[in-house]
Amino acid sequence: MEVDLRKANELFHDVESNVYDSKWGIRYDSENALRVKHKFEKLLGGPFPRVDKLLEVGCGTGYVGLNLSLNEGLVGELHACDISQGMVDACARNAEELGVAVEARQAELEELDYPSDEFDIVIGHAVLHHIPDVEKGLSEILRVLKPGGICMLAGEPTVMGDVMGRVARTGTLKAVQVYAGMGGYFGGVKAKLRPQGEGGADDHEIQEFERVVDIHTFWPPSVCRLAKKVGFAQARFEAEELLSSFVGWMTRTVENALSEDNLTFRWRNWSYHTYLRLSVLDEKIYPYVPSSLFYNMLLYLRKGG
Ligand SMILES: C[S@@+](CC[C@H](N)C(=O)[O-])C[C@H]1O[C@@H](n2cnc3c(N)ncnc32)[C@H](O)[C@@H]1O
Repeated sequence: MEVDLRKANELFHDVESNVYDSKWGIRYDSENALRVKHKFEKLLGGPFPRVDKLLEVGCGTGYVGLNLSLNEGLVGELHACDISQGMVDACARNAEELGVAVEARQAELEELDYPSDEFDIVIGHAVLHHIPDVEKGLSEILRVLKPGGICMLAGEPTVMGDVMGRVARTGTLKAVQVYAGMGGYFGGVKAKLRPQGEGGADDHEIQEFERVVDIHTFWPPSVCRLAKKVGFAQARFEAEELLSSFVGWMTRTVENALSEDNLTFRWRNWSYHTYLRLSVLDEKIYPYVPSSLFYNMLLYLRKGG
């Protein structure tokens, strides 16, 4: 059966928008404002410049755009778009709570509803791997960028990173199921598996959907070649998250598999801070380990002019 991947993405993310921030532990605060800024600074190789007009594509609930805007005076006008109206609404709600001005609208990356030569910077996080036609998506970004403008895409799974993520997920799920089956304890009470269908992200059909909408994993040099082919003057990449990603997939699998009663505040705090500590360690080992092993690709593209 032919699947409409754009429609599937829209429906899946509409459902996910209700649980997205809690599922992925997304926070909007000064710590994350700096984390997001540093992510892009690693790619820029220097300080993030003050930007007049910034567009976030595939904004979801606003993780990168809103957190970047929390850095005083960094972003002039923030625009955000997503194929899912549910995500656009969630982003607008988060912006309102944070007191950040955003012009958010529903738009597909492959057909951006913005004039040409409009933005100084286009950013995206974990979006390119959902786009059926990557070449068309990159061409649209090129079109809406001002001459000399830059695009930075982060959080895109590499081929090797994806293999390691799968190993972490399947191994952890098996272990949790066996442990709960043996009557083991977790968080001070008997480990209980979460019933299917409790909350959007845990529903079996939704999980099947997730496999469909995660369309690509990337071999970074090939994406750079493609970006040059569509007309970018410069294309290069970095990578991030090795140990943090492996352990992060394990802890998230535990959280998705076990009942809420098992997931104490102490556990959630531990898993979040372990992820942060391992991210710091990953940065330290980055110069010594092949970048293709890291989970996430960061892409830097510059339009000529
Ligand atoms: C994994 S989420 C990432 C959301 C957010 N950027 C973040 O990092 O939390 C991917 C997002 O891309 C959006 N998306 C998927 N296909 C898209 C398309 N063709 N055009 C625009 N957005 C799309 C989804 O609706 C979803 O919000």
